Amino acid sequence: MSMPTISPITPHLGAEVDGIDLSQPLSGDEFAAIHVAWMQHQVLLFRHQTLTDPQLEAFSVRFGALDRKPAYSADVVDTTTSDFVCVISNVRIDNKPIGDLGDGEAVWHTDMSYNPLPPLGAALYALEVPASGGETGFSNMYLAYDTLPPPLKARVQTLQCKHDATRNSAGLLRRGMPDVTDPTHSPGTLHPMVRTHPVTGKPCLYLGRRRHACIAGLPLAESEALLDTLWAHAERPEFTWHHHWRKHELLLWDNRCVMHRRNPFDPAARRVMHRTQIIGDKPYFKPVAAPGAAIHA
Ligand code: OGA
Ligand code: MN
Repeated sequence: MSMPTISPITPHLGAEVDGIDLSQPLSGDEFAAIHVAWMQHQVLLFRHQTLTDPQLEAFSVRFGALDRKPAYSADVVDTTTSDFVCVISNVRIDNKPIGDLGDGEAVWHTDMSYNPLPPLGAALYALEVPASGGETGFSNMYLAYDTLPPPLKARVQTLQCKHDATRNSAGLLRRGMPDVTDPTHSPGTLHPMVRTHPVTGKPCLYLGRRRHACIAGLPLAESEALLDTLWAHAERPEFTWHHHWRKHELLLWDNRCVMHRRNPFDPAARRVMHRTQIIGDKPYFKPVAAPGAAIHA
C-alpha cells in the first residue's frame, strides 16, 4: 500500500500532501498519516483532486461531524443542496452572487468563532480560480503566541475576548444580524485569548477577527489599544504563508491555531470555492507549569 508523502511548504506553516486521491475512502493508515501531518503543519495542500460535494463531505467528516454553513450575506442565492457546503464565490447569476465574500480582500479571521463551538477545521476546494489574485493567506498562531513579549504573554493568558458575529471577513453583514457600531453591544461569544490546542496541547493566540472585538472587563479604549498591539504582532509576515490557487486544489486548515485571509482579485474573473467545516470543541486555556517549577505528586 502506498502512503501519502508530506512536503513542508514553508519552515513555519503548510505542507503539501501527495499520492492520495481524496475522492476515494481513506484507509485508517492514510487518515492517520494525514492527521499527524495536519497537526504538525496546520494547513495541508492537496493538488489535482476532482471532488463532488458528497466526496468533499465524505473526506471532511473523517475529522469529525460537519458543521452547518454560516449565514450568508444578504444577496447570496445558494444553489447547493447541502447544509454543510458553503460556497465562496464572486460569480453572479441574474445579478445575484452564488456564494459569499465577493472579489475584494477578506481580512484576517478565524471561521465562525462567534459560535460557542467554533469549527476545528475547514476544507476549501477550488472549482474555478482566477489566473492571479485571490490568494489565501494563513498565519501561525502558535508562533504568534510564542513570540509575544513575556509580560504581554502573561497578561493575555488571563483575558477573554468577544468574537463578533455580525459581519463576515469581506465586511458584509450576515443575514439576520443587527448592524451594530459599538463593539461592546455586538452579538458574539467570549473565548479565552490564549487557547490550548486540544490535540497538540500547545498554547496559541486566539483572536478571531478584529472588527467589533472587545476584551471582557476592560474599558473600550484600553481594549482597543491592546487589541491593536496584538493584531499588529499577529499579522507579522514571518508567521504567514499565502497560497496561489490552481483549480482542483484543496486546502485543509486547523481553525484553532491558524488565521486566514484572502487577497482581492479581478472582478471580471470567476472564482468558485466549496467549503466544509468540522465541528470543534469549546476553546479553553490550561496553564502549563513554568519551566523549573516543582511538580508534587
Ligand atoms: C473561507 C475563507 C477565503 C478564500 O472559506 O473561510 O475565508 O480564499 N475563504 O476564499
Ligand atoms: Mn474564512
